[in-house]
Formats: sequence, structure tokens, C-alpha cells
Amino acid sequence: MDELLLVVQRLIKKQQLVFENRRLFDETRQELADRKKMEDKLLEVDRLKGEFIANTSHELRTPLQSIIGFTKLLLSGRVSDPQKQDEFLKIIEGQGEHLVMLIDDLIDVQRLESGRFHVDKSDIRIDEIIADAVHELSRLASEKHIEIDMEVAVSLPDMEADSMRIKQVVVNLLSNAIKFSEDGGKIWLKAAQQKGNILVQVMDEGIGIPKAATHRIFDRFHQVDGSPTRKAQGTGLGLYIVKQIVKAHGGRVWVESDVGKGSTFYFTLPVKSPS
Ligand SMILES: Nc1ncnc2c1ncn2[C@@H]1O[C@H](COP(=O)(O)OP(=O)(O)OP(=O)(O)O)[C@@H](O)[C@H]1O
Ligand SMILES: [Mg+2]
Repeated sequence: MDELLLVVQRLIKKQQLVFENRRLFDETRQELADRKKMEDKLLEVDRLKGEFIANTSHELRTPLQSIIGFTKLLLSGRVSDPQKQDEFLKIIEGQGEHLVMLIDDLIDVQRLESGRFHVDKSDIRIDEIIADAVHELSRLASEKHIEIDMEVAVSLPDMEADSMRIKQVVVNLLSNAIKFSEDGGKIWLKAAQQKGNILVQVMDEGIGIPKAATHRIFDRFHQVDGSPTRKAQGTGLGLYIVKQIVKAHGGRVWVESDVGKGSTFYFTLPVKSPS
């Protein structure tokens, strides 16, 4: 009888060891899977950063080359026609402004990463901001024969927001809409009140965005086409900055899109609560 008890005890012990081994095995497998996931994520960040450095260097180099080229031409004294001189100086000015915008984006991202990004709120009028943004991009739009249709509801309520930053959001969304539209396309910019929010929409009939990418485009550096041979210019920072600005105001930004048909970007901003 004692022997039987001993055998049973041994069997129970063995069974416990089997369970323990299985638990350890499962734990190790899970750890390996987690580590693989983390490695894949790091590799993806690394790949995007590589692509970003290559694209940014290119984005900085192109306007600089054009500035140097036109400056040399003007200095050579070979351009005597004052109208032509004026035209070339305007190109230099435009390329210089483009460089400043690019560098400002890089500074914004650095501030966001280090937690030093602030919004400076005051009473603003969204209709004026939208009109300013459209005015700023009117030359770019007319160069591509693109018409911008504005539908801004009358008497939108006052808002508390950072006017420069909200204009930056609208300019970013509009410049994307222009960039990813064909020549002669149309863009609609709408703003209306929806309960406690102002809803702004930027709609285009451009190339559209594949479903799988509609979330990722709001991440740093992410571009649907990030290849060196891509048609459109850019560094993939615009929408990341847009999202952070809207978030800092307590709003939301998202996109609905159909490849080949167009995209609509939406963002909301809460209206000022009555004090
Ligand atoms: N209106 C749009 N139509 C089609 N694709 C778009 C549109 N807006 C954004 N995208 C896609 O989302 C990507 C990310 O946009 P984002 O504005 O962040 O970067 P970018 O325009 O490429 O560069 P940057 O804004 O920094 O100059 C774009 O590269 C493009 O692939
Ligand atoms: Mg952009």
C-alpha cells in the first residue's frame, strides 16, 4: 500500500513538472514573439528614418540649387531685361520661403518629440484664418489651374485657439490637396458648426489614399510613396504636425478617401465654452 502511495506521489510530481515545463515553454515563446514584434517595429522606424533623411536632404538641396543657379545667373550680368530679373528674384524669394517652411517643420517635430511644443491660445475667428490660408496658397493653386471653392458658414462662433497654428493646419491640408490633385482639379474647403465643435473639411478630387495607409499617414515621416522616384515633393511631416496641433486644441483629425477619386480631410475644434 505504501508503495502504491509512493508511486502515486511520484506521478503527481512528474505531472507537476510537466505543467511547469509547459508554462515555462509558453512564457519563453511569448517573450520571443514580443521581442520579434519589437525588433520589427524598430526596423520599420529605422527604415522610415533612412527614407526621411534621404528625402529631406533632397528637399533641402533642390531649392538651394535653384537659389544658387538663379543668383549666379543674375550676378553674371547676362540678364539685362528688368522683367526677367524680377521674375528670377521672385523664384529665389519663393524657394527661400519654401526652405524656411521646411526647416520650421523640422523644428516643430523636434519640439514635439522633446515635449517643448506649446499652443498660444487667444480669441480667434476661424473664417478669417481660412481666408488667410486660401490667400497664402492661391498662387500655388493657380499655377496648377486648381479652383478652391470656400463654403464657410456665416456667423461661426468665436473660438479660443492658436491662430498661427490653426492656419498652419489649414495650409498643410490645402497644400496636400493641391499637391495630390491633377492640373485643373477642384478643391472644396468647408467650415460649419456641429454641436460643440467647428468641423472643417478639405476635399479634393486627387489621387486618393489606399485604405491601409489612412491611419499611418498621420505618423512621422510616413508617405504613401516615399521612394526617391516619387512624383510629389515633401518630407512626410505635415500631417504628423497637423495631428499634434489639433490634439493640443482638444480636437480630432481624420480622412476618408478613395483611390483615384479623391480625399476628404476633416478636423474638429471645440467652440469656446460660455464663461
Ligand atoms: N490630399 C491627399 N491626397 C492624396 N494623398 C495624400 C493627401 N494628403 C496626404 N497624402 C498622403 O499622405 C502622405 C503624408 O502627408 P504629409 O503632409 O504628412 O507629408 P508630405 O506632404 O509628403 O510632406 P510634407 O507635408 O512634410 O511636405 C503624403 O506623402 C501622401 O502620400
Ligand atoms: Mg504635406
